[in-house]
Amino acid sequence: MDHQTQTITDIILKAAERARVETSNEPEPGLTKRVKWPVTCTVGPGLEGAIACESRVGYVNGAKGWLIYRGYDIFDLAAHSNFEEVCYLLLHGSLPTADEFRAFRDRLAEYRWVNKTLRMLMGFPIEEMHPMAALRLGVNLMRQEFTYADSRERRPVKGNIIGSDEDSIPMETKPRGETHAIYEFKRRSRARRLRASQQMDDAGSIQSAYHLIAGMATLAAAISRVHQGLMPLDPDPELSHAANLLYMMTGRRPTPLEERVMDVCLILHADHGMNASTFASLVVASTLADIYLAVGSGVAALQGPLHGGANEQVIYMLEELAETGDVTGWIGKKLAAKDRIMGFGHRVYKAYDPRARVLGPLAEALARGKPDVEPLFRVAQQLEAEVLNRFGNEKKIFPNVDFYSGLVYRSLGIEPEMFTPLFAVSRVAGWTARVLEYLHNNRIFRPRAIYVGEFHKEFPSPAERGF
Ligand code: CMC
Repeated sequence: MDHQTQTITDIILKAAERARVETSNEPEPGLTKRVKWPVTCTVGPGLEGAIACESRVGYVNGAKGWLIYRGYDIFDLAAHSNFEEVCYLLLHGSLPTADEFRAFRDRLAEYRWVNKTLRMLMGFPIEEMHPMAALRLGVNLMRQEFTYADSRERRPVKGNIIGSDEDSIPMETKPRGETHAIYEFKRRSRARRLRASQQMDDAGSIQSAYHLIAGMATLAAAISRVHQGLMPLDPDPELSHAANLLYMMTGRRPTPLEERVMDVCLILHADHGMNASTFASLVVASTLADIYLAVGSGVAALQGPLHGGANEQVIYMLEELAETGDVTGWIGKKLAAKDRIMGFGHRVYKAYDPRARVLGPLAEALARGKPDVEPLFRVAQQLEAEVLNRFGNEKKIFPNVDFYSGLVYRSLGIEPEMFTPLFAVSRVAGWTARVLEYLHNNRIFRPRAIYVGEFHKEFPSPAERGF
């Protein structure tokens, strides 16, 4: 490990230690056990407190500030693992052996090629769409790449599938440093097509989950390129998932430090209990709609500023504050207007969000000496101090994952409109793991609303309504 990536690991380990010390007074939860349905619980507005299902995928403890994936602490995973391994863990329940890891990594490399989806996506004015809207569309289009669910009777004979998609967009640019772009003509090998086609039928399969995890990164990067006025790039089979994501966005192989930073961000965002976008995915999947549509609804839910969309809003807020310099006055006005301060508060955490514990110091280290980021980081620190001072003790409002992540991405040179898509590129691991788990024991979601309307109204005559 080189010196710089070791610095990142040190930051994570320090954050873990701080978390342990600061929450040591909170009692540890007892071992959980399977419940006997139906369960009794108190439900608040927004389904607060409602228990939707059992899960072994992950756990959030708001008082201790714990985030656990399949039994492993998020700090340990961020310090010692990588995103591919974490995806495998979430989907399969255990860390991969060396052989399993290699096979999984190879499969992701294969599924990162989503040319057919890109061809369809490029037919839309994605340069005018918010990247989250384009990503949602792309995810739904990925369904056509991998399933024949919409045209079962016209399904081609296996082994006889001619790839018109490859022929239509054979060109992918690969910058090699020359002054003029060199175009390479590529065609996927027949062997690869055959292997993929064998898995095509079942859109609720583990292969669809792999396909979504791999392909969404390619889509997000392609959308980012189009927004920069550039052509999408092919994935590089030699690069890791995090490095590919950065490479396909920027056209430059990332440094080990940049790769490690992106990898840590992907790990931290991969799963988070029964959050709104996960629940949205589960609701759709519970109708037995396929996993692509379920994940598409996860992307849609994540886009909102109360959820993942907060990370983009945070950076605009910090820019505004850096310009005016009046954090105290600004916060007073916001609170008087009962506005939410983006990047703070959480339904579950009543302690400091463990992800923000890592991202804050990471943002600080990366912002150092960068004139376009350092002033924003200083303002963020001021804002955090002010919010904690006003609310920390009483309302337990702390920075959440979205408060510092944007500063980290900004330090990597990423545009704010891509922050939420990056969240989605990671969270797809949690969405798919939980959807597949839920489908083992599926029951359609169908909560109730309390009707507070009227009864027995008399239907008015047309004349009474002016007809
Ligand atoms: N700024 C100001 N006040 C807040 C904030 C905030 N960001 N968050 C909560 N509060 C106050 C809220 O006004 C309420 O006060 P009162 O009891 O006096 O009415 C109290 O704290 C409890 O809040 P709540 O409405 O019960 O919280 P919730 O669980 O319904 O909402 C939340 C959680 C995350 C939507 C909310 O904290 C919020 O809007 N935060 C800002 C948006 C944001 O950063 N979202 C990212 C969430 S974390 C990652 C993710 O999911 O993507």
